[in-house]
Amino acid sequence: MADIDPGNLTEMEAAAELERLAAEIAAHDKAYHADDAPVIPDAEYDALRRLNDAIEARFPDLVRENSPSRQVGAAPAGGFAKVTHARPMLSLGNVFSEEELRDFVDGLRRFLKELRDDPTIAIEFVAEPKIDGLSISLRYENGEFVTGATRGDGAVGEDVTENLRTLDEIPKTLMGAPEILEVRGEVYMTRPDFLEMNERQEAAGDKVFANPRNAAAGSLRQLDSTITAARPLKLFAYAWGDLSEPVGETQWDFLAALGKWGFPVNPLARVCGSVEEILENYEKLSAARAGLDYDIDGIVYKVNRLDWQERLGMVSRAPRWAVAHKFPAEKAETVLNGITIQVGRTGTLTPVAELEPVTVGGVVVSRATLHNEDEIGRKDIRIGDTVVIQRAGDVIPQVVEVVTAKRPKESKPFVFPEVCPECGSHAVRPEGEAARRCTGGLVCPAQALERMKHFVSRNAFDIEGLGAKHIEAFMADDILRTPADIFRLGDHRDGIAGREGWGDRSADNLIAAIGDRRAIDLDRLIYALGIPQVGSATARLLAKQYGALDNWRNAMGAAENRESEAYAELTDIDGIGPSVAEDILEFFGETHNRAVLDDLGELLDVRNFEAPDTVGSPIAGKTVVFTGTLETVTRSEAKVRAESLGAKVAGSVSTKTDYVVAGPGAGSKAKKAADLGIATLTEDEWLKLIGDA
Ligand code: IVH
Repeated sequence: MADIDPGNLTEMEAAAELERLAAEIAAHDKAYHADDAPVIPDAEYDALRRLNDAIEARFPDLVRENSPSRQVGAAPAGGFAKVTHARPMLSLGNVFSEEELRDFVDGLRRFLKELRDDPTIAIEFVAEPKIDGLSISLRYENGEFVTGATRGDGAVGEDVTENLRTLDEIPKTLMGAPEILEVRGEVYMTRPDFLEMNERQEAAGDKVFANPRNAAAGSLRQLDSTITAARPLKLFAYAWGDLSEPVGETQWDFLAALGKWGFPVNPLARVCGSVEEILENYEKLSAARAGLDYDIDGIVYKVNRLDWQERLGMVSRAPRWAVAHKFPAEKAETVLNGITIQVGRTGTLTPVAELEPVTVGGVVVSRATLHNEDEIGRKDIRIGDTVVIQRAGDVIPQVVEVVTAKRPKESKPFVFPEVCPECGSHAVRPEGEAARRCTGGLVCPAQALERMKHFVSRNAFDIEGLGAKHIEAFMADDILRTPADIFRLGDHRDGIAGREGWGDRSADNLIAAIGDRRAIDLDRLIYALGIPQVGSATARLLAKQYGALDNWRNAMGAAENRESEAYAELTDIDGIGPSVAEDILEFFGETHNRAVLDDLGELLDVRNFEAPDTVGSPIAGKTVVFTGTLETVTRSEAKVRAESLGAKVAGSVSTKTDYVVAGPGAGSKAKKAADLGIATLTEDEWLKLIGDA
């Protein structure tokens, strides 16, 4: 290719060269976009396109219908168009033992008053195999399949409609279904189909997949739907999203309706009337598991009654009315070759086991977490030991125990470092804490890198294409110092395009991906800051309480004074205790953190927290305190109900309280309300106010 000079080509040679280039560029596009596996560096790809353009410039009549120059922008930068789910796609909480299962059921009983008060009322569950595939949402309007999407982050997924249309098992029209119906289910591949497909892939020199789940995901996320069509994908349907009218009164009714409309429903689903029946079913399915021709990684239990499901609602991003009972982790034996120390974004030193690679549950594992210093001591884990490791679902592999019989004679106990391996600062362990921490703070490059990685991670800014290696390189070059610099990378576009391994296309893609994230939900921004103890759920609580970035920032400034109302408001949020509050205030106590936040505030369009749709709700935006005994519902259910109508529920009465709902036995809170002149309602009055009476 290097020898071709467009100026010397005859028209015939030019035509042949353009044809060759079109095919070659198309193959690279597919490798890059569809297979996630580019085979040439970007710079070489860019050169191919430039050559194509130069030849076309000289022979305009030869521009082909399928010329790469006409395809510019054909494949969207991120791959697929985005779809915002009409109702979020939820995840599930897990239980691993009978005890945890009983706790889950007890939690349901405590939440629903009639169950709490009358232990003879049974809860029926539907137990469904938990299919190990990828979840999708299928939208039908007036019985026609219109959109199919992946789960994505639960709120926004990818539009894979055309690919899903190629699955025989997905009905394209429905008879007798509600006007609007979203069906959720799992796309999977059977084990025999997976093995056969991998053989074909290997024979053709194409990518082979590690397990059926990855194969299903890789096959569905193809930009060219003819590739998906050739892959053996199947479906089990099990839930709904948006729905214009109720379908039946139970989960079991709903599964029956799915079957009637032509969706495949897992034949092993059962109704269980007690924990005993659930456990019996668990034993049966555990035994049958190996004989199934598809992978399952547990059993999902769903409260059968839909009215109870509705009242139970959700916690964070999972339904309160369902749980996944996971099968025990798979185990394997291997040798511990070394222990390395990782430095986290808050300076925590985490020991990592470097293992002789071993396959556990279909995945090759070469590293496992050792948690902390004490864990190594407790299990007396030494380099050179043979260890048992386990891996459960998507959980990080763990070292369970040492096979002491196989311990080499000369082995010595592991000595945990007292300095940070990355920056040499002292690593200290405060009294009563399990973690040893690097004291390097801002000077520790490892902490800075981890903070940045966290900032762009999936539940934070979710910037595709900005991996650890890139961040590291940009930080080394000083074009990335604080998270806000990410949004100024556009100023360095040419420099980035000129770096090794980069090119015009990948630089533009990265900058476009960053641009896409300038508008961000407040809770994601809060989470991205990486404040210790502030995970996604806590970030949401803060976003919900304060609504807007400025409001939050000002309130945290005021809360520095521990006597202030602002401090009381912060610690009064259910789920935020004094220790979390201290971490938040410590973050705001640092000038550089406030500077970064201000900088981000200017660069970004931070979306205020959107209260649930509460138009017409009489209590939207009001602050309510419950006290005393409630007669009709439990305190938990009352709180959830009030919140779903847009109110805030506080634990103590202050000048910000709008209503105090006082049942029998109400004490000091009712008195304080009276002193402050705040409206006090009986439970009846409250139910009338919210329209539940
Ligand atoms: S129900 C409320 N049912 O498990 C709806 N999920 O760990 C929540 N899954 O994202 C999901 N089989 O991808 C449900 N029978 C089943 C399932 C199932 C597999 C997956 C699904 C979900 C994940 C949660």
